[in-house]
Amino acid sequence: MSEMDIRRRFPAGAVIFHEGAPGDCAYVIEAGEVEISIRRDGRTVVLARRGVGEIVGEMAIVDAAARSATVTATSECRLLILTRDQLHSRLRRLDPVLRMVFGVVLERFRDSLKSMRGEAAPAAATPVAPPPETAAAEGLGEAFQSAIDRIELEQELRRGVAAGEIEFHHQPLVSAGSRRIVGYEALARWRHQDFGLVSPGRFIPVAEETGLVRDISKLAVASAAIVAARLRQRDVGDANLFVSANVTAEDLCDPGFFEHVSGALRAAALPPSGLVLEITESTLIENAEQALAMLQRYRDLGVGVSIDDFGAGYSNFSYLARYPVQTIKIDKSVVDQLDGGDAPSRDRGDRGAKLVKAMVTMAHALDLKIVAEGVETPTQADVLRDLGCDVLQGYYFGRPELLAEACASAPCAHGLPAPELV
Ligand code: CMP
Ligand code: MG
Repeated sequence: MSEMDIRRRFPAGAVIFHEGAPGDCAYVIEAGEVEISIRRDGRTVVLARRGVGEIVGEMAIVDAAARSATVTATSECRLLILTRDQLHSRLRRLDPVLRMVFGVVLERFRDSLKSMRGEAAPAAATPVAPPPETAAAEGLGEAFQSAIDRIELEQELRRGVAAGEIEFHHQPLVSAGSRRIVGYEALARWRHQDFGLVSPGRFIPVAEETGLVRDISKLAVASAAIVAARLRQRDVGDANLFVSANVTAEDLCDPGFFEHVSGALRAAALPPSGLVLEITESTLIENAEQALAMLQRYRDLGVGVSIDDFGAGYSNFSYLARYPVQTIKIDKSVVDQLDGGDAPSRDRGDRGAKLVKAMVTMAHALDLKIVAEGVETPTQADVLRDLGCDVLQGYYFGRPELLAEACASAPCAHGLPAPELV
C-alpha cells in the first residue's frame, strides 16, 4: 500500500471535495486546516473550520448520501484517509440501538442543513426506517429492526428475571477415575412465558451488557445452595456433592455479593464445601488486585472457587500461582484439540495432549484440582484421565438437565421463592 492510499496532501486553497459530490472516504486532519462551506442564494456561507485531530467527510460515508458541504484547505493539509470499509466495519459492530440513534441524529442534522440552504424542510415526518430503495436505506432499515429487537429482548429479559423465568439446568461432573458423580454445574436457562426456552447464546450476552447478569448470579448461588443441600440429603446422596454456580468477577469483587453467598448457605443449611463459584479467567485477570483480596475471604469461608474457561484466552500463570482457588477448569476448545483420526489431526491431537499435560502438571504443582469440560467421546474421557485430569464434564457424561431437586418447590422453576429483585 503506497503513501497515496493512506494519506492525501492538499495545498492551501485547494478544494478537497465539493458539496453534492458522491463521497469516497472520510479524512482525519493530521496537519493544516480546512473550511466547511455551503452555497446559499449564490453566495458561499462558511459553516465551520476544522483543524488537526478532527474528522471531515464522515457523513457521506456513514449513510451513502452526497457530500453535505464543500471542504477547502485553508493551509497546506495532510489528511489521513478513513475508508468506507473501515468506518462501516466499525458501525456494524456498534450496538444496534446506538446505531439507530446515530442514524437519527445524522438525519436531523441533514434536515437542519437543508433549511440553512433555504430548501424546504420535509413536510411530513421522515420515517426512521425508509422503504429500502437504496443501499443506505436498507442499512438504516436493518439497523432499525435490530434496534427494536434488541430493546424488546432487554425489556423481556428484565421482566422474565423478575417473574422467575430463569431456571437452572444441572450438568454432572464426574471423577475421572471412578466416573462417579462428584457435583453438578448449574447453568442458567430462560423459560420465556410465551416462547419457551430461549437459547443462552441469545440471552446471556444481553444479561451481561445490561447488568441483569448480576441478578442471575444471585439466583444461581441461592439455587445452587438449595439444590446441593437437597442432593446431599438424598438417600443415595453423597455427603460431599457440590453444585457450582457461574458468577462474574464483578460479583466476586462485590462485598454485598459475599454477604449474599453466606446468606444463601445459611438459608439452605449447606456446609460451604457444597458450593463452588466458577469465574471466567479473563475477567478475573482484569480485576486481579481486587479479586485477590475477595478470594481470600471466600477461601476462609470455605466456599470453593474454580477458574473457568482456562486456556481460552491469555492464561496468566503468575496470577494463577497467587489466586487462593481450588480448581481450574480447562476450556472445551483445548479438549477439542485432543481428537485423533487422520494423520494431520493426530499430530494436532498429540500437541493438544501435551498442552493438557502441561496444564495438569502446573495445576497439581500448585495444589489445584483440574477439571476438563466439553468431553464428548469415550476416547477423550480416557485420554484426559490418563493425562491426570481429576474431574470430567461434558455431553459424554450428561447434558445439562432439570433435576428433580431443582424443581421441588413449584411453582417457581428454579426452586426458589419468587425473587425479590430491585
Ligand atoms: P460529508 O457530508 O461527507 O461532507 C462534508 C463534510 O463537512 C461533512 O461530511 C462533515 O464532515 C462536515 N460538515 C458538514 N456540516 C458541518 C457543520 N455544520 N459543522 C462542521 N462540519 C460540518
Ligand atoms: Mg462454567
